[in-house]
Amino acid sequence: MENIIELKNVTKRFEDDGSAAVKDFNLSVKRGEFVTFLGPSGCGKTTTLRMIAGFDTPTSGSILLDGRDITALPPNKRPINTVFQRYALFPHLNIYDNIAFGLKLKKIKEDEIRKKVTEVLEIVDLAGFEKRSTSTLSGGQQQRVAIARAIVNEPEVLLLDEPLGALDLKLRQVMQRELMRIKKEVNITFIYVTHDQGEALTMSDRIVVMNKGIIQQTGDPVSIYDEPQNAFVADFIGESNIIDGIMVRDRLVKIQGVDVPCVDTGFAENEAVDVVIRPEDLDIVEEGAGFIDGLVTEVIYEGAYYDIRVMAGDYEWHIQSNMSATPGKKAGLAILPDNIQIMHKPRSSDEEIIEKD
Ligand SMILES: Nc1ncnc2c1ncn2[C@@H]1O[C@H](COP(=O)(O)OP(=O)(O)OP(=O)(O)O)[C@@H](O)[C@H]1O
Ligand SMILES: [Mg+2]
Repeated sequence: MENIIELKNVTKRFEDDGSAAVKDFNLSVKRGEFVTFLGPSGCGKTTTLRMIAGFDTPTSGSILLDGRDITALPPNKRPINTVFQRYALFPHLNIYDNIAFGLKLKKIKEDEIRKKVTEVLEIVDLAGFEKRSTSTLSGGQQQRVAIARAIVNEPEVLLLDEPLGALDLKLRQVMQRELMRIKKEVNITFIYVTHDQGEALTMSDRIVVMNKGIIQQTGDPVSIYDEPQNAFVADFIGESNIIDGIMVRDRLVKIQGVDVPCVDTGFAENEAVDVVIRPEDLDIVEEGAGFIDGLVTEVIYEGAYYDIRVMAGDYEWHIQSNMSATPGKKAGLAILPDNIQIMHKPRSSDEEIIEKD
């Protein structure tokens, strides 16, 4: 697959001397790919999307479409449609005319427009809503009209900025599946923005995890979840135990004073590291049978598993297990070596991104 969109060393500063909202951003998006920007509020997701759409210009760096530099091309000259985070429907037009708007501008024949609008209304589950006024729609329905309005133009690239933010969980999941289905049906490249990691893991071919305008990791959902490259990614994608450790030597890490076998190599001897362990990778065992013992402080039944907290020394471990435990009793924690992830400590303040409690 060839690249459709490329960002090369893209940096955006809103004030000349201000800090960068997006910093040295490099990314190639393949035709037909579903790429998601994932990160906390203010990390530069919308700014990056606006530069791809042409509503903002990079301070430095370039943006390519099919290998052609479009950095200075106005938005209406790009084969790109955007569903904005704060989308606006035309209040004086009914649903049909809202969706038909772009097609009418392109002077497409009326019966063709009617066919396309009917089709997309079906796709977003709003068949029969043609004549309704936008003010009579719920937030979720308005959001679906905004999506329909973008899809109907059959853009090469569709940019979606938190398009499901206003929907309740159920409808959100329905719309996630709908978007994935639409994506399969139409040959559109999707660049999607969310701060919801579950949504990103479900929908994306590739995820770009961002923090403070900097890409932390790019990869497919499985590698992002299983092989986070730093503590920020590990913490942001799912819950994790993140604890200080010392890499004694290859394949041996000291956690809370105990030497624990792991599979990582290539660290300096006695290097201070971040140790990352997923709650579901820890097992509750008899006192003395694991690598460490602690006091069970909390057990909550979550349906699929027990959510357990165990205080060991000054660290409260988080465990998700199908085995229960007894609050107030001592228990051991066990872990398999390849479920321990070792990460270098951040070297600079740019990477100092985890707020340790
Ligand atoms: N027009 C602007 N002028 C000055 N600063 C801006 C402007 N737009 C965005 N910023 C700043 O750039 C940074 C990134 O903002 P951006 O809107 O891209 O974040 P985001 O990741 O989309 O966040 P959210 O999830 O809250 O929508 C923020 O610190 C924001 O305050
Ligand atoms: Mg935003």
